[in-house]
Amino acid sequence: MIKLRRCNLKQLAGERVLLRADLDVPIENGRVGRGVLRLQAAVETIRELQEIGARVIVMGHMGRPSGEDPKLSIKPVADYIVAQLTAGTVQFAGLASYKQVIDMTHQLAQGDVLVLENLRFHPGERDNDQAFAKQLSAFGDVYMNDAFGNCHRNHASMTSITEHLPSYAGRNVLREVEALDPILQATRKPYVAVVGGKKISSKLHAVTAILEHADTVFVGGAIATTFYVAQGLDVGLSHYKEEEVALAETLMHRSNLVVTPDVLVKAGDGTYRATTPDKIQSDEAIVDVGPESIKQMRETMLGADLLLWNGPLGIIEEPQSRVASDALAHAFAEVSRGKAYGVVGGGNTVGLLEELKIMDLVDHVSTGGGAMLEYVGRQALPALEVLKEE
Ligand code: 3PG
Repeated sequence: MIKLRRCNLKQLAGERVLLRADLDVPIENGRVGRGVLRLQAAVETIRELQEIGARVIVMGHMGRPSGEDPKLSIKPVADYIVAQLTAGTVQFAGLASYKQVIDMTHQLAQGDVLVLENLRFHPGERDNDQAFAKQLSAFGDVYMNDAFGNCHRNHASMTSITEHLPSYAGRNVLREVEALDPILQATRKPYVAVVGGKKISSKLHAVTAILEHADTVFVGGAIATTFYVAQGLDVGLSHYKEEEVALAETLMHRSNLVVTPDVLVKAGDGTYRATTPDKIQSDEAIVDVGPESIKQMRETMLGADLLLWNGPLGIIEEPQSRVASDALAHAFAEVSRGKAYGVVGGGNTVGLLEELKIMDLVDHVSTGGGAMLEYVGRQALPALEVLKEE
């Protein structure tokens, strides 16, 4: 297991701890909606730091804004944090000037919390600008990275900042690394992975890596559609990524890869039907995997000893096209509750388990989506690399 720098928490009493947390969650009607798992993890760490008498400055990002965007303000997250904490005062820095924020950090009493506005409002964050990282470092005496879900990003608040402050991994990052270790080792067999969802490019690369270690990898959702196109099939109006077809072509003959064999399609007139991917009409779009695929996945999963799932298989916002994802969630919980070790990750997948109230039945629900896939695919995550113990 990767060894990360841990901090002796007692040493943090009275210090300004600059906590990089995972605050990237969906906002619905100005409030935190689904996916509070990440925020719960952040709140646990904040509480831990408050208890030892630290002064806590929380920073994070939300979405992919280009410049300041009120729709992507961290304010609803700050409100959520206020509601969860019973001790200390919690302030939101909003659009306060740099100098004002520095002053606010110095005015914090022990146990107080200051939440900063979306880091991605500044281009320096994603550009990993050195000067921006140095500026951020003035907000704390010690840096702690607890944003596991963003550890695959080489951004200023994730990597370069560690050059300016004593830096440690937080409790959530340490917990993730430990809980994902069985998947990383992949010594338990059979190892079955299911990868679906919309973010095709990053996921297809992760699938490539996971295929090296898993016994069976099912692909569903838009990833499967990209494979159908690679097979020369006409997918009608279905969503896929042309740029990824070449990679899909190189992977499609792998014996441990299963591209779901049937699909649910929605036609222009709003009707649904199950069919095989070679019979999709020009006015139809794939919205879910079909019943035969569900059966196959379930049977394979029942025999597994190690399970990984990231990404829904269909459009889960519509009841008609979430049937496969719901079925998979229940099967996953059933197997993971039994002898197998099961890990689920990805915002939408975790949100689905939350809705179905089966989170507790899964061995580990990860706060990471893309980061989790890259980690279990044995790729080096830049923000973990900089925290490695020498
Ligand atoms: C995530 O949700 O995967 C992380 O917050 C990273 O977000 P990004 O894909 O916008 O960099």
